[in-house]
Amino acid sequence: MSFLTLEDVSFRYPNGYKAVENVNMSFSKGEAVAIVGQNGAGKTTTVKLMNGLLKPESGNVIIDGWNTKDYTTAQISRKVGYVFQNPDDQIFHSDVYSEIEFAPKRLGLPPEKIKESVMKAAELAGVVPYLKEHPYNLPFSMRKFVTIASVLAMESKVIILDEPSAGQDLLAMERLGLMIRTLVAEGKTVITITHDMEFVVNHFERVIVMANRRKISEGNKRDIFWDFDVLEESMLKQPHISRVSRSLQLEEKVLSIDEMMNHLQQVNNW
Ligand SMILES: Nc1ncnc2c1ncn2[C@@H]1O[C@H](COP(=O)(O)OP(=O)(O)O)[C@@H](O)[C@H]1O
Ligand SMILES: [Mg+2]
Repeated sequence: MSFLTLEDVSFRYPNGYKAVENVNMSFSKGEAVAIVGQNGAGKTTTVKLMNGLLKPESGNVIIDGWNTKDYTTAQISRKVGYVFQNPDDQIFHSDVYSEIEFAPKRLGLPPEKIKESVMKAAELAGVVPYLKEHPYNLPFSMRKFVTIASVLAMESKVIILDEPSAGQDLLAMERLGLMIRTLVAEGKTVITITHDMEFVVNHFERVIVMANRRKISEGNKRDIFWDFDVLEESMLKQPHISRVSRSLQLEEKVLSIDEMMNHLQQVNNW
């Protein structure tokens, strides 16, 4: 059953620019979904509509039975946590612990519960060694994990990650993947915007594609990454190994090196 639904949602910024047009999407509990598309496609605007930072010009956003039109951003943020694309738009405390503690504290939770939520979030995001540091003494990639932890600490049912893979090394990508798997196993919905198609292949099943302020397609990653009309319209590239496989004119629609090796072993009887 859908936990979060966008029904025919359109949005226009105050300067008159229409950034999202007639978008329909829905998300269930306990699933990880990737949203992909070029810069300017409307991805960030769409997810800000999901946590009430923005309200639709027309259409409805329904979260766990709530229409975002009827609730404040603060109320909605208990259900949907949003990690900003740029961590520096989100960080405003002088040590990591205080930064992570801010949201659960504001929710008025008892001190023991706050501490428990902060430590759980810090562990999941891998920032325990930096709790006493000033966030601005940490590199960009680690500041991103600090903002992730501060959203995880709210223990909302839906977590939205806006380009968490940007500027991250391989180890950080693995940590992100493990974190997403853990959250999904806890029954949370994880919605992730990313430009990294390998990251999508490794950690997601369902993919939503946006282009020119609209959702142009959605489906299983294999169908999406082998749909050349969709890839062309959204100006997305296939994962590297799929491109190799295509230029070799292999029949199998592979998405990973393992799949390619399996296929080659089968056809060549290795
Ligand atoms: N505050 C704003 N005012 C006016 N236009 C904006 C604002 N924020 C974003 N836009 C425009 O809306 C479009 C979609 O932006 P965005 O949702 O950030 O796309 P994406 O995340 O896919 O890159 C872009 O053309 C962007 O320039
Ligand atoms: Mg964006």
